Amino acid sequence: MSKILVLHGPNLNLLGQREPEVYGHLTLDDIDTRLNKSGEKLGLDVRSFQANGEGALIDALHEACEWANGIVFNPGGYTHTSVALRDAVAAIDLPVIEVHLSHVDAREEFRRRSLISPVCAGKISGFGWRSYLLALQELAWRLEGQD
Ligand code: DQA
Repeated sequence: MSKILVLHGPNLNLLGQREPEVYGHLTLDDIDTRLNKSGEKLGLDVRSFQANGEGALIDALHEACEWANGIVFNPGGYTHTSVALRDAVAAIDLPVIEVHLSHVDAREEFRRRSLISPVCAGKISGFGWRSYLLALQELAWRLEGQD
């Protein structure tokens, strides 16, 4: 069974209470539970981790090289600012898909710039928790070797 790291960045621990009109009413636990169940159906062993600090996220990316086959990454606000996270993604030899709950390209100008996107396999945004689900589906197809 392929193993997937779902990595959540800063402030995503506050989902459910944080700007629900933008990010929805599901908590991070709700999302992780759904992803876990969906992962089983896709033949994926999904493990989630959230951190607010860049260092912990970078460590999680490095450590994933030891055990994971792919990564679904929501870098939160660091998407738009972090050279260090971009470098960490570029340094590891795993497919990483960038995800966002909100439609970042339809929001404030500063959210349109992602430092992470150019080093990812692709980006999915705007579909709430299903952005993560779509990324899991893509990783499942890739890891099966589908065209
Ligand atoms: C986000 C979008 C980011 O711009 C924002 O800073 C977040 C959440 C999203 O999932 O929509 O924290 O990554």
